[in-house]
Amino acid sequence: MTNLEGMLKEGTFNGKSIVVTGGGTGLGKSMTRYFLQLGANVVISSRKLEVLQKTADELMQETGGQVLAVQCDVRKYEEVEAMLAAAVQKFGKVDTLVNNAAGNFISPTERLSHRAFDTVVDIVLRGSYNCTLAFGKYWIKQQETGKTVLNIVTTYAWTGSAYVVPSACAKAGVLGMTRSLAVEWAKYGIRTNAIAPGPFPTKGAWDRLVPGEFRDKLDLKNRVPLKRAGEHQELCNLAAYLISDYSGYINGDVVTIDGGEWLQGAGEFNLFDAVTPQQWDMIETMVRGAKSE
Ligand code: HXC
Ligand code: NAP
Repeated sequence: MTNLEGMLKEGTFNGKSIVVTGGGTGLGKSMTRYFLQLGANVVISSRKLEVLQKTADELMQETGGQVLAVQCDVRKYEEVEAMLAAAVQKFGKVDTLVNNAAGNFISPTERLSHRAFDTVVDIVLRGSYNCTLAFGKYWIKQQETGKTVLNIVTTYAWTGSAYVVPSACAKAGVLGMTRSLAVEWAKYGIRTNAIAPGPFPTKGAWDRLVPGEFRDKLDLKNRVPLKRAGEHQELCNLAAYLISDYSGYINGDVVTIDGGEWLQGAGEFNLFDAVTPQQWDMIETMVRGAKSE
């Protein structure tokens, strides 16, 4: 057994249908592959139909599962409703919504136009609530239970982060929605959870957050106590668990998967990581010798 293997039982998602926004690339594509391997039918949606169709063809070929590619800009509620209708028409129902689509780029906030700020917040926050609202209304009206919503946020949803302020604002909003609806919609049999990933290399994120030479200079894995980036399968295992019936009593939680990264920056004395054993000897001598006033 390794962290690069699928964790759940074969057939876990037999008969289930799952919608993954932003499922044509990056982590959305990886999750889609794993959900298919576990027997799900998957709808992937984003703005670029060509990218989606290529992913759908590749993953259907690879797994033998069924993927429907639907063009949908999550910022537009009518497109979200149409995407839901297409999913229901193809697979008869939807069991899970994964709000994974996002927009982000690194920039000092004062360099952003208000339109740039809107763009990121609209994709991340408006996009997530558009999808959640449309799917939730549908499930409630149909009196369908046993549904799950999984929101992909980040650890800076609660710490904030310089240079990605629109994204931090939007992800914080998505986290607020996660916890609020976990309570409000539990009575309808809808569980709502979130995952907060640390660095998981994807082209979409890396090109926009650590472009060119900055990738090596700011090697993100150096910030992680485990000194490595995340493996996509690690995140896929967690996502599959959280949307499956195995996690039936988990509701309203956000699970961090970041190798300890955000806590590394948070602990007052974490900088002492750099202290050598000789220096620790010195420190111990000084501390033991300390006299009270
Ligand atoms: C300043 C910028 C900019 C930049 C765009 N804008 N890029 N401003 N610096 N680098 C401005 C534009 O000038 C414009 O404002 C406004 O933003 C909208 O830009 P468009 O290009 O018209 O928007 P659009 O085509 O909708 O593209 C959205 C996007 C793009 C967010 C800008 O990057 C995108 O499509 N991203 C999708 C994928 C993605 O971002 N993946 C990364 C997710 S990683 P004006 O004023 O000129 O009209 C993540 C967390 C990672 O979320 C955490 C890692 C640990
Ligand atoms: P990615 O490959 O760029 O994925 C983002 C996806 O969102 C793309 O497929 C994009 O497709 C879609 N998208 C963007 N705008 C959209 C819109 N308006 N409507 C519908 N779809 C839209 O990046 P990723 O790294 O895999 O990110 C996936 C998720 O993980 C995001 O929520 C991100 O915030 C989160 N995350 C990633 C990391 C990381 O280290 N990679 C860390 C923390 C959190 P189109 O361009 O075709 O629309």
